[in-house]
Amino acid sequence: MAAFDLPPPSLIGREFSDEAARAALAALSGPYLPWGSGAMRPAGLATVCNDIVLNGRRRIVELGSGISTVLLARLLCQRSPPGGFRIAAVEHDAGWAQWVTEQLDREGTGSEVVVVHAPLASHPRAERGLNWYDHDALTAGLRGALRGDPIDLLLVDGPPAYAPGHGLARYPALPVLRNWLAPGATVVLDDAERPGEREVLRRWERETGLDFDRLADRAGVAVARTGGAGTVNGPQRG
Ligand SMILES: C[S@@+](CC[C@H](N)C(=O)[O-])C[C@H]1O[C@@H](n2cnc3c(N)ncnc32)[C@H](O)[C@@H]1O
Repeated sequence: MAAFDLPPPSLIGREFSDEAARAALAALSGPYLPWGSGAMRPAGLATVCNDIVLNGRRRIVELGSGISTVLLARLLCQRSPPGGFRIAAVEHDAGWAQWVTEQLDREGTGSEVVVVHAPLASHPRAERGLNWYDHDALTAGLRGALRGDPIDLLLVDGPPAYAPGHGLARYPALPVLRNWLAPGATVVLDDAERPGEREVLRRWERETGLDFDRLADRAGVAVARTGGAGTVNGPQRG
């Protein structure tokens, strides 16, 4: 095992609970946010925050915006000077994009955090009968937000995939954005315990050679890193 590789799941015995994660996320306190069942679990979000802190992530793309976007913005604002990071949150729903933008404006995050409105549309990489983010809106939005820099953290929590027949709705993310990733980038898929997301992970692994660590039971997410740079995984069981 290389120095910073995660141990196999069988060796990770202790749960990182939502309760423990909530305590960690208290460091991101600010005006109240309406956390609900559509948002990431605290343990999943803390897993993402750990990667940002431990591996210095500064070019972040999130598919599916919400409470997580605001909390990630708070974290980056704490840790990086103005202009030192970029977050692009891609959102298909115009009303929700507006709401998230208003929350970010209240927080004074500025141009470092951009909500990219990209409606769902037919897409060549989407499963038959499913849509994905409109190609032109997504491409223009990400180019503007990232200003040519590669993505060092890709968080896939959209489009919504809970409805029957929509289980593979998030599949296009990696085929489409793979070439936008920096060496050593982190890829996170939320809701990794659901059958659709498990199939998405199998396909991504087969097609890209990435090896996802499934933290689904503990945090709801699966995490992989692209090759090319040393990364740190954070505190592990001794
Ligand atoms: C799984 S949610 C994304 C959640 C987000 N990443 C978070 O953790 O807060 C996927 C989509 O559901 C919609 N959504 C999420 N929270 C919502 C809410 N409270 N009200 C309405 N729509 C919501 C948005 O369109 C979003 O892109």
